[in-house]
Amino acid sequence: MNISLKNQRILVTGASRGIGRAIARQLSESGAEVIIHYNTNAAEAEKLLNELENPAYTESCDLSDVNQVIGFIPKLVKKYGPISALINNAGIARSASDTLPTKEWVMIWQETLQVNTTALAILCKDFVEHALIHQNGRIVNISSRAGFRGDTTDYLAYAASKGAIISLTRSIARHYGKQGIKAFLIAPGFTRTDMAEEILSKYGEKFALNDIALNELTKPEDIAPMVTLLCSGLADHATGASIDINAGSYVH
Ligand SMILES: NC(=O)c1ccc[n+]([C@@H]2O[C@H](COP(=O)([O-])OP(=O)(O)OC[C@H]3O[C@@H](n4cnc5c(N)ncnc54)[C@H](OP(=O)(O)O)[C@@H]3O)[C@@H](O)[C@H]2O)c1
Repeated sequence: MNISLKNQRILVTGASRGIGRAIARQLSESGAEVIIHYNTNAAEAEKLLNELENPAYTESCDLSDVNQVIGFIPKLVKKYGPISALINNAGIARSASDTLPTKEWVMIWQETLQVNTTALAILCKDFVEHALIHQNGRIVNISSRAGFRGDTTDYLAYAASKGAIISLTRSIARHYGKQGIKAFLIAPGFTRTDMAEEILSKYGEKFALNDIALNELTKPEDIAPMVTLLCSGLADHATGASIDINAGSYVH
């Protein structure tokens, strides 16, 4: 099976590090023109840009600031031309103990929901509006095992933010399919990135390994090929699907 993403322009959010970087790299190596989105890590985004052979661009947008998110997609379309796929990967996982004063707890809740859910929904809405003109477009939303399974009490906001985008993705797939828009969800389990580092340093690698069915922890490069396949069009009839990539740690 040959996969070519030639003639595709794809926006990957949170592509400066971790899973997003691996996705952007593989999409580019498969022929796509990639827009590498980042928040503050311009140096890492530029580093990736310089490593890619195909044309690529870097763009920043703070997803915690709703005013920056509104208009981000139209701005990119105006600057670079039509975008064929949106990969919503950027996210935060902030710990908020249930013993925190409620005022502090709710600030973490709101920031988490803003970045992981509201910003993602705005990007989906603006992308759908753009894709309807072309009657074609694909969205891949990166959720989490936590969105299905739930998480610890420290990560209630994170799990809820990732659960909300499951039904968002399904609704987009069900409603806009006849107009050429496909939407997929990927739910990674524990993956070796900066985000996972806090848990690894706290509980150790053995703890993480005991939780999964395989012998090695998942790496960002284990997530990227599924995104490439979904962007290729070869899996369009899986629109609306949620795909677990969690090394057998949660089978449902
Ligand atoms: N790692 C895991 O174990 C795991 C498991 C399940 C699901 N996931 C999901 O997979 C996705 C990627 O996770 P990761 O582990 O690769 O994370 P990561 O290494 O922490 O990288 C996060 C990315 O999101 C961007 N980002 C963070 N806050 C942002 C903001 N306010 N505005 C715009 N961009 C922002 C970062 O940009 P800067 O570099 O500029 O800060 C960075 O590119 C997330 O949605 C996460 O929830 C991860």
